[in-house]
Amino acid sequence: MAEESANPTGPDLTKGIALASLPEGGMLVGHVGEEDVLLVRSDTEIFALAAHCTHYHGPLADGLVVDGTIRCPWHHACFDLRSGEALRAPAFEPLACWKVEQQEGKIFVRERLPKPRPASRARNTPGKIVIVGGGAAGFAAAEMLRRLDYQGEVIMLSDDTAPPVDRPNLSKDYLAGSAPEEWVPLRPDAYYADNGLDLRLGVRIGAIDPDARQVVLADGGTISYDRLLLATGAEPVQLTLPGAPPTDVFTLRSLADSRRIIARAQTARRALVIGASFIGLEVAASLRARGLEVHVVAPEARPMEKILGPQLGDVIRALHEEKGVHFHLGNTVSAFEAGYATLKDGTRLEADFAVAGVGVRPRIQLAEAAGLALDRGVAVNSYLQTSAPDIYAAGDIARWPDRHSGSSIRVEHWVVATRQGQTAARNMLGLGEEFTSVPFFWSQHYDVSINYVGHAESWDELAVEGDLLAKDGLVRFRRGGNTD
Ligand SMILES: Cc1cc2nc3c(=O)[nH]c(=O)nc-3n(C[C@H](O)[C@H](O)[C@H](O)COP(=O)(O)OP(=O)(O)OC[C@H]3O[C@@H](n4cnc5c(N)ncnc54)[C@H](O)[C@@H]3O)c2cc1C
Ligand code: FES
Repeated sequence: MAEESANPTGPDLTKGIALASLPEGGMLVGHVGEEDVLLVRSDTEIFALAAHCTHYHGPLADGLVVDGTIRCPWHHACFDLRSGEALRAPAFEPLACWKVEQQEGKIFVRERLPKPRPASRARNTPGKIVIVGGGAAGFAAAEMLRRLDYQGEVIMLSDDTAPPVDRPNLSKDYLAGSAPEEWVPLRPDAYYADNGLDLRLGVRIGAIDPDARQVVLADGGTISYDRLLLATGAEPVQLTLPGAPPTDVFTLRSLADSRRIIARAQTARRALVIGASFIGLEVAASLRARGLEVHVVAPEARPMEKILGPQLGDVIRALHEEKGVHFHLGNTVSAFEAGYATLKDGTRLEADFAVAGVGVRPRIQLAEAAGLALDRGVAVNSYLQTSAPDIYAAGDIARWPDRHSGSSIRVEHWVVATRQGQTAARNMLGLGEEFTSVPFFWSQHYDVSINYVGHAESWDELAVEGDLLAKDGLVRFRRGGNTD
């Protein structure tokens, strides 16, 4: 989704700027032709890179420079200052880089440098890698295998009929109608064949045989592997509502789900969202953007209080109410019939359709049947290796020993899944990288972004800084005096 800027900012860097205008550790945005270029002075060197992140175009000048890298302020993608390589997801594409020269106290930006070439860093090269899952972790692993110049066979199997998509977008801009569908795939269709990735869609895996090192397809066929990555993600909890026509109650996980909701919204006036979860509320925001009347029904007293605490829960509620969302909290839906819902307290709400966002379950059945060690998810070590040494697991299904909290955790975030896919890829090639990323997620509600760093399943103290009501604040979740 990166776009070229119509009006380049700052000075023309090809004409040179005074060295003194870029202090040590400083950043400055100028342009080269039509392109915005960021100059970074770090240690004794000066780097010139594209000024916007290749994920969603975040302004890198507001990011952090750490140890030869630059971190995007929006969703924390990490790029190498020297090569522009997207070292850590959620960005995958490198930043464009330019040659920099210094002459007579001035900095000049010269020609654009070639894209970094895949570097062969593998220690061992298994002949064939099979990835079960065409989502965040599966895609990130496949992309990283080729980036590391792995020359062996890569087969990606997915029971989805769509190629890997930008799943977070399915409840946000795409559902709201402000992002076209061509922004949703993570890569164009041709990318997979062009990079020798054998992506097989609509293929369901029925079993894994770790002794024979084979996956067994639901149609009985088998595929052998030398290394296997399990990245089967999670599936939405389905609600059974008495009286509900199945065609009028939706859940949201796939592109097909999002398309179905959009199609239904086009002929509807009122929608019911069941569950005040992140996904439920993002759906509520998107349906409001489409002009629908939206009612949210959820059992808790405040939206997302359990995850974010009462202060943020109130802010989120106020934010949605400002936009016209009606909340029915401390309540549940006891029946949904054509055209209306009945709540536990007897309230009757008119609604043409419902979207349930009441949680997900990790898809661990394959791992369980294969006899892999489980621990409320698939248990992996810090290298993301399961109890079967040739099988790795990543993403929503994986529970890993988190060195920051000292606990084993499983989280359902896009950035964690993509980074785990990247680490698993490195480890399937023998690079021995521990997964040490701090968990991070974001959620978008209208023009407000909520960014969450770390992982606090419980806390005994909440410290609020700034002004949450003015949508500019920070909440620290502390347990025993520590911020996890
Ligand atoms: C609508 C929506 C919005 C979200 N927004 C955000 C957000 O804003 N921020 C954030 O941090 N996170 C967000 N998330 C969560 C994030 O998308 C997930 O954490 C992430 O996708 C998990 O990646 P994964 O690779 O583990 O699983 P997935 O991306 O779900 O991929 C799993 C893949 O496995 C395949 N599969 C499963 N079982 C089988 C089988 N037996 N045979 C063949 N294929 C199989 C599936 O078809 C799929 O291709 C959102 C999720 C949804 C649904
Ligand atoms: S815009 Fe940079 S990480 Fe998302």
